Amino acid sequence: EAAEKGGFDTYMLKEIYEQPSALTNTLMGRLHDDTGEVDLDIDLDPSSFKRITIIACGTAYYAGLVGEYLIEQLARVPVEVDVASEYRYRQPLVSENTLVIAVSQSGETIDTLEAIREAKRFGAQTLGVINAKGSSMTREVDDVLYIHAGPEIGVASTKAYTAQVSAMLMLALWLGRARGTLDAEKGAELLRAARELPRLVEESLQPERVANIERIADKYKRARDYLFLGRGVNAPTALEGALKLKEISYIHAEAYAAGEMKHGPIALIDENLPVVVVATESFLLEKTVSNIQEVKARSGKVIAVVSDGDEEAARYADDVIYVPRAHEMVSPVVNVVALQLLSYYTATLLGRDVDKPRNLAKSVTVE
Ligand code: G6P
Repeated sequence: EAAEKGGFDTYMLKEIYEQPSALTNTLMGRLHDDTGEVDLDIDLDPSSFKRITIIACGTAYYAGLVGEYLIEQLARVPVEVDVASEYRYRQPLVSENTLVIAVSQSGETIDTLEAIREAKRFGAQTLGVINAKGSSMTREVDDVLYIHAGPEIGVASTKAYTAQVSAMLMLALWLGRARGTLDAEKGAELLRAARELPRLVEESLQPERVANIERIADKYKRARDYLFLGRGVNAPTALEGALKLKEISYIHAEAYAAGEMKHGPIALIDENLPVVVVATESFLLEKTVSNIQEVKARSGKVIAVVSDGDEEAARYADDVIYVPRAHEMVSPVVNVVALQLLSYYTATLLGRDVDKPRNLAKSVTVE
């Protein structure tokens, strides 16, 4: 088993470090710089969709939420995202003009599988964004976009998530270009940004960055609760950060879109509450910095995830995690790596078994 972990203490850490190569595999051969086109080998007709529904469970659901943002921005098609266990029982409103995208690492999650069957019964076109080759879902959907992240053993998903988000970005680019809502110049700009992802994630894993995150994890590991905040395309990053922390450290964590803080969670803030704020470069950054000040004014402890060199966003935080600068539309892939590491070190410093967290299964094949 030690050999299978390739010198890492755990599968989870190995898989965190595999992300640059996993992302290279996800993107490889699919982005054409010269033409700004994305080649996904999908036979469905991109101009036939009037709406899109994304269905998934757990971490894959959060990748779906990033997908919603990206597809709506770049392809201007209405998108809804639903947890598969709800969708399958809601008698979904679909037609042959609806594309249902199922996101799943294993391709075996029963709720997602049944949700696909339900969508097909109502006449939707279906696409799977899947990691596991030959899995049950790949046989049920009309078409598959493989994420090529390689086998994921750790129960808490890491490299599959960043690969899923990258796949959603490519889908958004494909739809946007094909539907004429994304011009060639903007398409090429995003394509270049996507190409940078393996390198940016590699940079996120530099030893001094990781050591800083481990120090912060140690400082707050006795916290009873954690709050995560993010906005826009990084609101799901906050959700995924909170899920990761819950799954492997068993610390209670909640996540909110930062603008919602004033409508409830602000009541929880005191000197014992660490608040992780995703505050990287964004057209909404000023508003996020105001949220940081609001937390500070109530004695909360702010751990800010900030773009390299951004002193302004870092100024009011108790602790800062600097991450490589990335185009906002691709930044969820880069930013989440810091939160994976924060959860990882919190859990291991508390002596948890991160590869086999209690009560969880890698793939849930019974309801
Ligand atoms: C389980 C795992 C999660 C995963 C979810 C969906 O709950 O513990 O990590 O996100 O299933 O799995 P899937 O294979 O469909 O992506």
